[in-house]
Amino acid sequence: MSELDNKHIVLGLSGGVACYKAAELCRALTKQGATVQVVMTEAAAQFITPVTMQALSNRPVFVSQWDAREPNNMAHINLSREADLILVAPASADFMAKLLHGRADDLLSLMCLARPIDKVPLLLAPAMNREMWSHPATQRNMAQLRTDGAHVLGVGQGEQACGESGDGRMLEPDELMQEVVRLFQPKVLQGKHVLVSAGPTFEAIDPVRGITNLSSGKMGFALAHAAHQAGASVTLVAGPVGLATPYGVKRIDVRSALDMHAAVMSQLDHADVFIATAAVADWRPEKTALEKIKKESSGQMPAMAWTENPDILALAAQSARALNSELFCVGFAAESHDLKTHAQAKLARKKVPLIVGNIGADTFGADDNALLLVDEYSAVEWPKDSKLVLARKLVAEIAARLPTFRKSV
Ligand code: C5P
Repeated sequence: MSELDNKHIVLGLSGGVACYKAAELCRALTKQGATVQVVMTEAAAQFITPVTMQALSNRPVFVSQWDAREPNNMAHINLSREADLILVAPASADFMAKLLHGRADDLLSLMCLARPIDKVPLLLAPAMNREMWSHPATQRNMAQLRTDGAHVLGVGQGEQACGESGDGRMLEPDELMQEVVRLFQPKVLQGKHVLVSAGPTFEAIDPVRGITNLSSGKMGFALAHAAHQAGASVTLVAGPVGLATPYGVKRIDVRSALDMHAAVMSQLDHADVFIATAAVADWRPEKTALEKIKKESSGQMPAMAWTENPDILALAAQSARALNSELFCVGFAAESHDLKTHAQAKLARKKVPLIVGNIGADTFGADDNALLLVDEYSAVEWPKDSKLVLARKLVAEIAARLPTFRKSV
């Protein structure tokens, strides 16, 4: 499954150096299964040729409102009626000022004005010099465009083509592609804050050794990604894993169970949902040796004292109860057998409303998973699917449970 299968996107380019990024964006969108129709202003065609965009989109590009190729000679109507979404990237300061006034003297602005406003979302990716970006006129225009129903994306920060440095860079093609995917996802967690723990922990024995486990963090990262796409603001507390941070998610890297505990607790105040996917080490060495422990000539492994780690999930749920908060806690159970029995035991022991069971050996490191959702009343199997598909389903399931949970706490 690709993220944008069956979606038809009109990609508009107005004039700006960032037009070079639109070529890569076009490829990123088509790679995700979308069909892309490019519409350019004459200014955009000064920066990148329609030939390049035609080759990448595999469709003739439209530049002029007088283009006679359309039988009814109404390219602005036809193009906007076919679109599932119009994305203008780059959106120049001048183009946004024009849209704001409802002006329509070129094909791209005409098409934006003619779009069925309730059916075809308009996404604008601003790109300009930092002074132009921070100018009150630009900021005012963006606020008004948002009020008028456009989705105006933020901008990147850094070096600009003019040699200055600051805010105003267009978001990168991959980020824009993620924004497009996000726009099509139902916003079931809009306005909520979701906290996710993911990955393994590493409990140091000495400066070079420690104990850890095979958790890859993929399920937790997929959940963080899915929750963000569902409209939540998401904080991901990640143990040592080599995964890229999901777009739009705030990440806190930790190493040990104690670090993870401290990080989770510091974020609980403003969380509505806590999903504990992390495979936290149950025990840690009582003391971490300051120097590497050397092999002894006795042939015996040196004895080591162990201390139990805090149960982060149970403590989070306990603190929520103590504060009378409506925090909805979800735990995971990675087992090798008797999944239902173990998951039910965890539900009772940790006093959380939902435990998601999976078979550890089958899922650690894999891109797919099969889940068993266990609550007070039932155990429901979700068959094998990709972790992202399951994450989206689980996010929807949690969102559906929030209103009744709120009443019961
Ligand atoms: O206690 P057990 O490891 O079997 O339970 C697994 C669930 O509890 C997972 O959701 C895991 O993230 C969470 N957990 C935790 N802190 C621990 C141990 C497990 O948050 N110390």
